[in-house]
Amino acid sequence: MAQAGSLKVLALLVCVSLCSFNEAVRVAPEEAKIFNVGSYGVKADGENDDSDGFLKTWEAACKSSGKVKIQIPNGNYKLGPITFSGPCSNVTTLTIFNKGTIKASTNLGKYKSDAWIEFAEVNGLRLDGGGTFDGQGAVTWSQNSCSKQKKCQALPVSVKFINTNDTMVKRIKSVNPKFFHMAVIGCQKFRASNLTLEAPGDSPNTDGIHLEQSTDVKITDTDIRTGDDCISIGHGNSDLVIARINCGPGHGISIGSLGKYAYEKDVKGLVIRDSNITGTLNGVRIKTWEDSPVSTVVANITFQNIQMTNVSNPIIIDQMYCPWKNCGSKDPSKVKLSDIRFSGIKGTSATPVAVTLICSQGYPCQNVSLKDIQLKYINGSDATAVCSNVKPSFAGTALPKTCTAPITTVSSAAEDSGF
Ligand SMILES: *[C@@H]1O[C@H](CO)[C@@H](O)[C@H](O)[C@H]1NC(C)=O
Ligand SMILES: *[C@@H]1O[C@H](CO)[C@@H](O)[C@H](O)[C@H]1NC(C)=O
Ligand SMILES: *[C@@H]1O[C@H](CO)[C@@H](O)[C@H](O)[C@H]1NC(C)=O
Ligand SMILES: *[C@@H]1O[C@H](CO)[C@@H](O)[C@H](O)[C@H]1NC(C)=O
Ligand SMILES: *[C@@H]1O[C@H](CO)[C@@H](O)[C@H](O)[C@H]1NC(C)=O
Ligand SMILES: *[C@@H]1O[C@H](CO)[C@@H](O)[C@H](O)[C@H]1NC(C)=O
Ligand SMILES: *[C@@H]1O[C@H](CO)[C@@H](O)[C@H](O)[C@H]1NC(C)=O
Ligand SMILES: *[C@@H]1O[C@H](CO)[C@@H](O)[C@H](O)[C@H]1NC(C)=O
Repeated sequence: MAQAGSLKVLALLVCVSLCSFNEAVRVAPEEAKIFNVGSYGVKADGENDDSDGFLKTWEAACKSSGKVKIQIPNGNYKLGPITFSGPCSNVTTLTIFNKGTIKASTNLGKYKSDAWIEFAEVNGLRLDGGGTFDGQGAVTWSQNSCSKQKKCQALPVSVKFINTNDTMVKRIKSVNPKFFHMAVIGCQKFRASNLTLEAPGDSPNTDGIHLEQSTDVKITDTDIRTGDDCISIGHGNSDLVIARINCGPGHGISIGSLGKYAYEKDVKGLVIRDSNITGTLNGVRIKTWEDSPVSTVVANITFQNIQMTNVSNPIIIDQMYCPWKNCGSKDPSKVKLSDIRFSGIKGTSATPVAVTLICSQGYPCQNVSLKDIQLKYINGSDATAVCSNVKPSFAGTALPKTCTAPITTVSSAAEDSGF
């Protein structure tokens, strides 16, 4: 009896330890199901178009369930325009782990939409692996007419995310896109970090990351050297954090352009902080078109702790945006700006005017504050601030100290692309 009793105790002890062990096994991370592009006819010889194989791999992964991972091993791949679409109903996360270099087709005739690689309507997407997306843009940049005229056919964006929820993009490199490096449209919960985006400083419309109609976005720890805006924040965005960016060459970090189309929505709740902007045309900018067809709001925007080095327009609000000589009528912009904070913006301006705040005559900017601004002209002398239709508050260190005479034209606009 006594023995049976101790056996029971032993059994109980074994059970307790096994049960907790089983519990640990059950909560251990699920192994991802692997889909290697090599198993779906992808050649990786750098010459044959691998589009069919990539699409077959995606279809297999998307039809699967739980955690899935598409492996793109080291190698050279060639890819025409391609859309990876969901829904992938039974998939929790779909990782594309790219270690290779994927080059875009240079035959513009093949591109039916405005993107090279498009991810659409998919949730739980992960893009990772340290690989490169090469848009081969140098071949087609000369065919971009958007930098010269209003009516134009935009070239394809390298990597576009449309209507995706819960997306994480990490350790990815993009070089020489035909147009933007990345576009994030209609996405919720989008995370991008440790990206490297590269194109020559004079390449047309090669914005780093363009955001539109997206909410809950974080872009961090990213290096952007390109020919247009490092990050451009279009209409309908809210709840964005942009932090630890190295930007330049390029046109800086820009909200806008806004107020061009009647369908546009408000922009609210943005924080842009802890970044370096070097040798760019603009530093931090808000630009809205004059004569806008609809009235929208841009509110609650914070630019904080940004180091400027030799930037032509370190701080600029331009509500008279018109990159072409003739923008039609001269009605003031109807985009209403309020609660715009610039704080801890330091460094050097490549021009004597470090702060330009040109607000709309129809809707003067409300609650614009400048705190701890220390901007000097690159030759060491004081820089100035010019303002119109705005009464900014100056606090903390203030260099420049106050607004001087208003100006009515913004010289940088003519050099810009219209986006
Ligand atoms: C998802 O899994 C369920 C249950 O196994 C299955 O009935 C359904 O067809 C799957 N859906 C897709 C899109 O594969
Ligand atoms: C993303 O979330 C929104 C709102 O929750 C939802 O309307 C939309 O259908 C979702 N998108 C996808 C691809 O599931
Ligand atoms: C991302 O970059 C930051 C800053 O350089 C670094 O500390 C971090 O380890 C990187 N993370 C990944 C996942 O590579
Ligand atoms: C910005 O530059 C400073 C000084 O060179 C450096 O310490 C800091 O890490 C840089 N910030 C980022 C986001 O790389
Ligand atoms: C302003 O934006 C920040 C950051 O997105 C947010 O936390 C805060 O609630 C917003 N404030 C107002 C008054 O909407
Ligand atoms: C500042 O930038 C201008 C071009 O905008 C360039 O010509 C000049 O050499 C730069 N100065 C320094 C000190 O880097
Ligand atoms: C400006 O700021 C003040 C105080 O923070 C606030 O009461 C007011 O509503 C703000 N005005 C606008 C137009 O945002
Ligand atoms: C810097 O340049 C401005 C404008 O060209 C000039 O007035 C000023 O004297 C220069 N300052 C120094 C220290 O060279």
